[in-house]
Amino acid sequence: MGNEEISLNMSPAQLHCRETYKDLATIENTEEVNQLVNTLSSLGYKSDVWIGLFSVIDWRWSDGSSGSGSEYRKWENLADNEPDFASYNQFSELIENVDKKATWDRFYTESSSSTNTFKHFEWFFGFDAVRDFIMPLLQTKPHPDGLLQVLDMGCGTSALGPCIYRHSPLPVRVTCADISPIAVRLMQEHVQTKAIQPHNLSSRLEFVELDCTQLHEHYSCSSVDLIVDKGTTDALLRSKERKWKANQVLKQCLKVLRSSGSLLQFSDEDPDARLLWLETEAQEPGVMAADVGVQEVGELRGMTYCYQVTSRSIV
Ligand SMILES: C[S@@+](CC[C@H](N)C(=O)[O-])C[C@H]1O[C@@H](n2cnc3c(N)ncnc32)[C@H](O)[C@@H]1O
Repeated sequence: MGNEEISLNMSPAQLHCRETYKDLATIENTEEVNQLVNTLSSLGYKSDVWIGLFSVIDWRWSDGSSGSGSEYRKWENLADNEPDFASYNQFSELIENVDKKATWDRFYTESSSSTNTFKHFEWFFGFDAVRDFIMPLLQTKPHPDGLLQVLDMGCGTSALGPCIYRHSPLPVRVTCADISPIAVRLMQEHVQTKAIQPHNLSSRLEFVELDCTQLHEHYSCSSVDLIVDKGTTDALLRSKERKWKANQVLKQCLKVLRSSGSLLQFSDEDPDARLLWLETEAQEPGVMAADVGVQEVGELRGMTYCYQVTSRSIV
């Protein structure tokens, strides 16, 4: 952002900033929001400004940085359909409260009220992009006690859980769990009207309101075969409380996973950071030992990854 006032649409503004400076501004926290607002008012700007947040499927900062703040969705869309800086109060509220139930309740209320027909909201991508990571893990024989237990942790209104239920040849109980009762209600209402037919008629699908830092309230130890997490740990790691909740969720996952079970985290976090965190946490005293691996999922304005945490059976 420079001193001279030029009126441009977003793409030319981005090009201009890249040629003249570095890129459109990236804003990662309240301090930087305040800095931007102060700079604008001291320069006497009255008009709207572009910042470097844009979306095709996924939101990223224009300068390629993966810092926090890009998960914010409530940029106002005007008639020209270009993103707009709605209010810095709203922005700072979301990045600081991305782990809070009320924030997500508002998010799902607003995304559902903008349309009359239910539409799944998918973080990163939908089932087709990740089915080859998920479905091979559901080929082990079901236990004598019945169904393979699958948890979509922080399901939101994603179609991931219903798709696993629909496509699994082996009988599964898919539990779609979220801290937001609004997301859970929207999904329950949706499947009631849709009557999804499972591949295996013994399979079950359920939606529960659940805080995943407290998985032990819903599951007994070593009872879950597969946990999928698309963007939930990412959100918790970016919250104000940073790693506390994400650590707690990981510990709970390792507690409720069977010795043959796996946790899949779909994430855009760089392997250097995520693997170090997962490996360190999986070695904590009192936590079930686990092996950690990573595979690339695909490019969405930057790489996305599938991190697999597998309980290490004790010999
Ligand atoms: C980034 S969104 C991902 C939603 C969904 N998995 C998808 O792929 O679209 C994160 C989700 O985690 C949920 N969440 C946040 N904290 C949670 C918690 N402690 N327990 C359960 N769900 C949580 C939010 O309500 C939100 O739906």
